[in-house]
Amino acid sequence: MQTQIAPLFTRHNPKGIYLANHSLGRPLDATQDKINEYLDHWYTDLDDAWEPWLQALDSYHTKVKTLLRLPDPGSVVLKTSAGQGLRAVLNCFPQRTLNIVTSSLEFDSIDFILRTYEAQGLTKTTWVNPQPTQPVPTLTADDFIAHITPQTDLVIISVVNFTTGQIFPNLKDVITHAHANDALVLLDTYHSFGVIDLTWPVADFAIGGSYKYVHGGPGSCWLAIANPQNHQTLDTGWFAKKELFGYARTADRAEDHRSWWESTPPIIQAYQALPGLEYLEHFTVEKLRATSLAQQAEMRHIFQNHNIPVFEPQDPTQFGAFSLLPAENHKEIVSHLKQNNIRVDSRNGFVRFGPHPLNTNEEFERVAQTLSKMS
Ligand SMILES: Cc1ncc(COP(=O)(O)O)c(C=O)c1O
Repeated sequence: MQTQIAPLFTRHNPKGIYLANHSLGRPLDATQDKINEYLDHWYTDLDDAWEPWLQALDSYHTKVKTLLRLPDPGSVVLKTSAGQGLRAVLNCFPQRTLNIVTSSLEFDSIDFILRTYEAQGLTKTTWVNPQPTQPVPTLTADDFIAHITPQTDLVIISVVNFTTGQIFPNLKDVITHAHANDALVLLDTYHSFGVIDLTWPVADFAIGGSYKYVHGGPGSCWLAIANPQNHQTLDTGWFAKKELFGYARTADRAEDHRSWWESTPPIIQAYQALPGLEYLEHFTVEKLRATSLAQQAEMRHIFQNHNIPVFEPQDPTQFGAFSLLPAENHKEIVSHLKQNNIRVDSRNGFVRFGPHPLNTNEEFERVAQTLSKMS
């Protein structure tokens, strides 16, 4: 796999060992060419560029939909952040205070948006805490189910948790319970899209983006809507109008895939993300996942040989694409590694190590040696 992948990533310079692949993914060589293609249309065709531009956007939506295995009539709409996708869903229900159930371990954008809406009296959130398992806290389906009642409107769950890497267990049970209580479910797939090959878990909405495993950089995110005709959001604009060029003051909303679009779309984001989506299609999420699991197992094994207390999950298939080193001095470890040209990151007491097929066992060995010299 590495020999096939290496020629696709010759332009970037890791300047040492890059193990933050679970954060900012590496740029593919093709990204520059694709962005040039976007610009060439603009330079050459001026406003005729919209025809190929909209085709690229269409292709982006289709590829995300296919990779999500989202069935018809589901639809995907480009957003510039996952949080923007969340707000579009929250803004479907302006007439009442929304009762939300989510975990206290959601990513900061999601957490902060929910707290900001709550401060304005627009939502009321029940925060489900993880079980205090050691060394890594765990979220359970039962704890969610216990908090979802007929008053619940929306349940928000990360499929893979950004801090612990835990894959949310028995997700389908929670979704079934939420639906039985007439609540909708929004999945945050930022750490699972392109990592775990899931069939669409019958959720109502999903958010995700290309920053990490899709090698698409910042700004190329999306919202997936399972039943676009069942809901309408306040987050709209002229690209959601039935007659796009009608300029009428009393216009209808589009009935097709554009019903969830907003204002003039940021086309360059589709071009930025397309090479990464094609990469996932070509190598397949299934094979990339197998490579990630094998690499993580090898990396943890090497760390353990150096007495580095890396977290060894009982079942690694229940975790995402990064491994954890629990450490109170996590920030110090990240900066020590950085001084040694090794890039990783940390969240809430855990250093995260996210390998990519381009990382080698020799690199894991060097990281382990650098870590063991610290104490
Ligand atoms: C689970 C999860 N959700 C969402 C995001 C990003 O959200 P946003 O695009 O709103 O900043 C991240 C980024 O790291 C994440 O890990």
